[in-house]
Amino acid sequence: MPGHAIHPIDIIRKKRHGEELSQAEVEHFVHTVVLYGEQKIAEGRGEHPTLLAATDKISEAQIAAILMAIFQHGLSHRELAWLTNAMRYSGETFDASSLNTFTVDKHSTGGVGDKSSLLIAPIVAAAGLEMSPSISVPMISGRSLGHTGGTLDKLETIPGFDTQLGLVRMAEVLRETHAAMMGQTPKLVPADRILYAMRDHTGTVESPFLITASIMSKKLAEDLKGLVLDVKVGSGAFMPTYEKSKFLAELMVSTGELAGTRTAALLTTMDEPMGRFSGNWIEVWECVDIMQGRRHPMSADLIELSTILSGWMLYFGGKSATPEAGAQLADEILASGAAYKSWLHIVAAHKGDTSIFTNPAAFHKPKASRVLKASRTGYLAGMDCTEVGWAVQRLGAGRTKPGDPVSAHAGIESHAKIGTHLKIGDPIFTLFSEDEALLAEPYRMLEATVAISDTRTEPQPLIREILTRDTVSL
Ligand code: URA
Repeated sequence: MPGHAIHPIDIIRKKRHGEELSQAEVEHFVHTVVLYGEQKIAEGRGEHPTLLAATDKISEAQIAAILMAIFQHGLSHRELAWLTNAMRYSGETFDASSLNTFTVDKHSTGGVGDKSSLLIAPIVAAAGLEMSPSISVPMISGRSLGHTGGTLDKLETIPGFDTQLGLVRMAEVLRETHAAMMGQTPKLVPADRILYAMRDHTGTVESPFLITASIMSKKLAEDLKGLVLDVKVGSGAFMPTYEKSKFLAELMVSTGELAGTRTAALLTTMDEPMGRFSGNWIEVWECVDIMQGRRHPMSADLIELSTILSGWMLYFGGKSATPEAGAQLADEILASGAAYKSWLHIVAAHKGDTSIFTNPAAFHKPKASRVLKASRTGYLAGMDCTEVGWAVQRLGAGRTKPGDPVSAHAGIESHAKIGTHLKIGDPIFTLFSEDEALLAEPYRMLEATVAISDTRTEPQPLIREILTRDTVSL
């Protein structure tokens, strides 16, 4: 019956049997979730919440039941597209139309020592500044949580760096520098804030459908024409198996493409920390070194990943004929110093103090450090990279719950990669902390997880698979 009222209980009944919801039902669900969130905020402030019409109401129990039904039965491609779109427009969105530029961003499912965003933004921005047609990176990033690091925490170790730009200033910074690197605004995708908190309490975080809607609604709210997804696989990855990572990547590619955004997903290996350093300031230092032309051997995987991901972004933006040529261009932009010039420009636009990049090593001031050495001669065979991420967190670099403070100088330096031959006593990791007492537990965790063997283990290739609209069903 056209125009009839939609009730949460009907959505629950349909979805618990695995039936497909209509677009109107999905949109109504998101609409009521946002109103529910606004009521809770008003209550929290001690204000009288506005009276809602019966048809606009949904209870916490009903939201939870719908999430669990989705967790159990999944969503069709259409339902996922409707959910993502309704979430995307649940609050304010970025509008890039006046900038006349190809907006492109990268999203990673999270890793240890993965600082590629800090290289990719200036590489692509440099291409935007120096070459026509215009290309820009409106990068909205997150904070560290659990075993993975967060771009905002790294950037905020630069004195003065403002990550809370807001969308109006973001447009100005994009116009000036072709890249903005900031945190999510409180009004961007409010539906995700409410649903994510509820998923956390109801054991429904791991649904690939809900993860896709959550990630893609936030990315698409940036008004992107192109998106490159770095979906990690391996012992440090967010998803527990290769198949689950691939399924998530397929859902995200099809959702992006259905929304009209060119989307590629690269399945990349996360079996050991990426690059030389894992932490906050030390990761910025590593990137500054690279952009200033110093390529430490431990940074080779980071440089490869960053140029390949940038290559896809440049290709989508029409700067190269193929993603491979894009990667080559990205490497040239790095090597020529153009990315560093662009980095200085971006940091200054965010009110960051660029003078510390003159001697980044001197800015690293941990109060305590300790070296984990090889207990025997042999090859570095592997480690549980999630455990390494937790060790970095316990040193003070990460947080277990949102809002916890993080240390700028805590973290680890990797001295060997999987497959490296080690002699007894060779350094594997140096641990840094701002508190001597915080070294012991992470040291034990790293010691227990590092494996050395007599035979060489071949590391997995960095790029395992690439998914695009040509390889996933839409
Ligand atoms: N990151 C997100 O933003 N959402 C999820 O659901 C999972 C990871």
